Amino acid sequence: SGGSSGSDDTKGSGGDTIKVGFSQLGAESGWRTANTDSVKAAFTKDKGFDLTFVDAQQKQENQIKAIRDFIDQGVDAIAFSPVVETGWDQVLQEAKDAEIPVVLVDRTVKTSVSDPYATYIGNDFEKEGETAVAWIKKNAADAKIFELQGTLGSSAQVDREKPVDSELGSQIVGKASGNFTRAEGKAATEAALQAYPNMTMIVSHNDDMALGAIEAIEAAGKKPGTDIKIVSFDGVRDGLQALHDKKINYIVECNPVYGDQIADLVKKVVNGEDVAKSTIVPDEAFDQTITQETIDARKY
Ligand code: AHR
Repeated sequence: SGGSSGSDDTKGSGGDTIKVGFSQLGAESGWRTANTDSVKAAFTKDKGFDLTFVDAQQKQENQIKAIRDFIDQGVDAIAFSPVVETGWDQVLQEAKDAEIPVVLVDRTVKTSVSDPYATYIGNDFEKEGETAVAWIKKNAADAKIFELQGTLGSSAQVDREKPVDSELGSQIVGKASGNFTRAEGKAATEAALQAYPNMTMIVSHNDDMALGAIEAIEAAGKKPGTDIKIVSFDGVRDGLQALHDKKINYIVECNPVYGDQIADLVKKVVNGEDVAKSTIVPDEAFDQTITQETIDARKY
């Protein structure tokens, strides 16, 4: 970031520009696109940042390579959303050895490295799962559930699934991963409709896969939301519209629009200010009483 150029020695606020490497895990869903847009809008030149953004296309090896490149470039901070929870020990140690602070975004990691990152910001996936379970217990207590899982080994999959398994385990007739994408969600549902003809509900770990599931259910001549109920996560506009159209029954929100908060944390961490170890982004939940106005107001 060069020598001090302004009168202010605080990085990123009139003083030096903050060089940030952001390793995004992919572009698999509407949620991810909204999150990426929010990040790019927050880390602009006029806000004091020099951002290098790299999309890993849902491949851990791409993320590890991007992070190593950021270390080689001597960035001031690294932000990243880990595609899966494990396998980061070595690269996190390398960032630590290079004394580059890491801001963990969206998904969490399991690592043996001590003090592996400066701070974490993201949604509480386990609480989202609990919210879904509470709705199911109240509104569809005897459902026979097919669980459409997100990317296996990702904290979004593992943590949303925990309460579903522990509270509704005996009602789960089958599970398969749709990797958080619409196409794979559709394919997994097509197979599930054959394998588990007794299912009455799909719990889909995100809206994109739920939208794929809707296509598969309709192609099989059944009514999504009625013959097979759908509970989903995220609350992107297409998902909310399907909820309003009664093809999805309940959506637990996962709010992706927190780029400004990430930028604020990065600035503080780079300037050696104290930050909370973890910041949780609050989520709502929506049922079929959602209004068209709420959907139209959704920016993503
Ligand atoms: O990690 C957040 C999850 O990742 C979102 O629910 C999903 O849509 C995305 O792919």
